[in-house]
Amino acid sequence: MSSLLIRPLTVEDLGEVATIEKLSFPSPWPSSAYATELTTNRLARYIGAWSSGDLVGFGGLWLMVDEAHITTMAVHPTQRRRGVGSALLLELLQESRRGGARVATLDVRVSNLAAQRMYASFGFAEVGRRIRYYDDNGEDALVMTTPELESSEQLAREAAVRLHVHNRSDGGLQTHA
Ligand SMILES: CC(C)(COP(=O)(O)OP(=O)(O)OC[C@H]1O[C@@H](n2cnc3c(N)ncnc32)[C@H](O)[C@@H]1OP(=O)(O)O)[C@@H](O)C(=O)NCCC(=O)NCCS
Repeated sequence: MSSLLIRPLTVEDLGEVATIEKLSFPSPWPSSAYATELTTNRLARYIGAWSSGDLVGFGGLWLMVDEAHITTMAVHPTQRRRGVGSALLLELLQESRRGGARVATLDVRVSNLAAQRMYASFGFAEVGRRIRYYDDNGEDALVMTTPELESSEQLAREAAVRLHVHNRSDGGLQTHA
């Protein structure tokens, strides 16, 4: 079983964030954007996942009263399909509840089936579409949202994902959040 440490991102982590960001997105956010998020946005929460001392993934959200909006999520390409993305999303949804959010929302490219599958396994469902939302290729964004975060349905779904992450055939991940 591999050990995964999850903790809030700091400005010191932004070099490693930039490496994963560039490997993960066609239009990466500059480190300055993350620095602003971490230092001046009171609504923002960003977390990272470390394995053997290396940052392997990160994600973040904005807490907007009763809604948490997932702003980003990425896992290093060599570390995908091990449950790191799910472990990060589990923690982000916990943080959403702690912050008083009723539901969580996000935007995802229509072509990004990998991410959509992960979000669907957490109960996110499509509720709308932003036409030609992405400047780089004019692609649409799907808007997805969870059921009520405190509903028994949602809590059971997250418990099932947590079990799946821990019991994966490749040995599973032990998370320390
Ligand atoms: C989306 C992303 C964060 C997922 O991270 P990950 O660590 O690989 O996710 P997990 O291992 O927890 O996968 C959870 C589930 O998502 C689905 N999934 C993830 N990657 C998939 C893929 N390439 N193809 C099909 N399904 C996939 C599967 O259902 C998977 O469960 P399984 O492995 O038991 O079948 C990662 O692929 C990534 O960084 N992509 C580039 C950046 C990005 O698209 N971010 C999201 C922006 S909205």
